[in-house]
Amino acid sequence: MLFDVKSSTQRDIYNIVIGLVAPRPIALVSTLDPDGSVNAAPFSSYNYLSLDPPILGLGIQARNGATGELKDTARNIERAGEFVVNVVTEDIFRAMNVCAVDFPPGVSELEMAGLHAEPSSSVAVPRIREAHAALECRLFQTLQPGRGRIILGSVLAIHVEDRYVDPKGPYILAEELHAMGRMNGLGNYVRTRGAFEHLPRLSHAQWAAGERV
Ligand SMILES: Cc1cc2nc3c(=O)[nH]c(=O)nc-3n(C[C@H](O)[C@H](O)[C@H](O)COP(=O)(O)O)c2cc1C
Repeated sequence: MLFDVKSSTQRDIYNIVIGLVAPRPIALVSTLDPDGSVNAAPFSSYNYLSLDPPILGLGIQARNGATGELKDTARNIERAGEFVVNVVTEDIFRAMNVCAVDFPPGVSELEMAGLHAEPSSSVAVPRIREAHAALECRLFQTLQPGRGRIILGSVLAIHVEDRYVDPKGPYILAEELHAMGRMNGLGNYVRTRGAFEHLPRLSHAQWAAGERV
């Protein structure tokens, strides 16, 4: 099938793109609401986009419906200029899904999800205590391609529980972290536990010497 963007609905494009750009990491993003309470919501339109300096990107769509208003996360980041990406692993997977419920104003997603705020080291926005890793970010730039926002954040500090770091690298012990990935919407995710494939990269010299893996 061919999906021509001009003649497709927004919904079709959403369904097809998220099914093809997958699996995606999941950022459980904490921000501060105007009243100082902690907001938390998951975003899988998310990745690192630069390392020197380290910059993360978040794609935050406008809310469905005619008004197309901004989601609280985008509003909070634009106002306060800070956010924290909490890494979604197996053990906070269901809590992450609770944070995506459209609760009425005044209801704390963290409380509903059984999660707790923990002070960050370099931003006023707390990280989530139950997350094994978190990236503290300051707003670098906002792009406005349509009704939503592309948020670029400079990473100021990275928190990782010691047991998930091999200090020899340092490397993340990814096989033990058990990160989750999002697939085609429809509530479909992948686990990474026991799912690793090892494929070392070859230099040209190794290739030329006939090495294959
Ligand atoms: C796993 C998962 C990933 C999501 N990814 C995105 C995303 O990348 N962009 C987006 O706009 N909404 C995404 N959503 C929906 C938001 O989390 C949802 O609209 C949330 O209620 C927004 O909360 P907020 O208004 O507090 O920002 C995702 C939901 C789930 C469950």
